[in-house]
Amino acid sequence: MAGMDRVHICEVGPRDGLQNAHHLMPTEAKKAWIAALAAAGLKEIEVGSFVPPKLIPAMADTAEVVKYSIGIKDLKVVALAPNLKGFQRALEAGAHKITFPVSASRKHSESNVRMTPEQMIEEVRKCAQLPHPGVEIEGAVSTAFGCTMQGEVPEDDVVRIASALAEFCDCVALADTVGYANPAQIKRVFRKVKHQIGSKLEAAHLHNTRGLGLANALAAYEEGVRHFDSSMGGLGGCPFAPGASGNVITEDLVFMFESMGVKTGIDFQKLMVARDLLRKAIPQEPIYGHTPEAGLPKGFRAAA
Ligand code: COA
Ligand code: ZN
Repeated sequence: MAGMDRVHICEVGPRDGLQNAHHLMPTEAKKAWIAALAAAGLKEIEVGSFVPPKLIPAMADTAEVVKYSIGIKDLKVVALAPNLKGFQRALEAGAHKITFPVSASRKHSESNVRMTPEQMIEEVRKCAQLPHPGVEIEGAVSTAFGCTMQGEVPEDDVVRIASALAEFCDCVALADTVGYANPAQIKRVFRKVKHQIGSKLEAAHLHNTRGLGLANALAAYEEGVRHFDSSMGGLGGCPFAPGASGNVITEDLVFMFESMGVKTGIDFQKLMVARDLLRKAIPQEPIYGHTPEAGLPKGFRAAA
């Protein structure tokens, strides 16, 4: 029944989005954008990653951005870490949740974190065994639906990695890093993984590279998924996965769910204020979004 359901959206633009943008967003602009996203109703934002600054200069200020963001009321501040050093930096900065990318594709794993999937699982295990009071750990299975370097990624590999991560992570996400997934595959793989790890399977991290972002999100929703990552303006992509492009677009995801009667807790007009800040902060960067361009339908009502 309409209005009885809700989804939880994690905005990953400040991390997945800006790591692949051609233009650097100044730290003060990042803070203002994050504050505007939170004011629009986003309760969880992945604000950056703790990776070597030389590797991704856009993430060099993540510690400062995390320290600022944890001062925003009722906001869960997420940071990505690729290894123990990143985990320690994230803990020190005060992140509430730390997410680790664990590729199911060996080639992507080696390109992205210079570790095999097995080595990366052990790296996450090592971090999870260290004290991290009150901090949530997410294992995100990257390239779970295919890889631009390896091609097909066996579903059994995804299930095996997700099951290993579920032993010591608080939650597990499945990521379509390069936008290869289709809705039937989304349903099948989420169902298989859920069969193994139950409610530890939480988020769908989807990219819109082939235009199937929303279709895949809906498929995941129908499979029971209630946590989604998305990026404002459709920014995003992994710099270490050839051909990767933007995430599913937050604005369109919010419109889809709200118009279906599924609450997101996000105010569309206030989301446009945040979009305006994004555009002004990196004006040369192309940003996308169907609903922002077309406008809300006449008589539109958000989910009640
Ligand atoms: N943060 C900051 N510095 C780090 C770091 C981290 N998380 N991890 C390693 N370093 C530093 C080391 O201290 C070392 O510095 P030095 O040269 O001054 O001694 C240097 O980086 C190399 O360390 P090493 O452990 O050999 O790392 P590497 O070169 O094998 O790279 C990763 C491994 C995991 C750090 C790197 O591949 C990475 O950051 N990958 C993530 C990429 C990414 O963000 N992808 C998109 C998101 S999924
Ligand atoms: Zn991504």
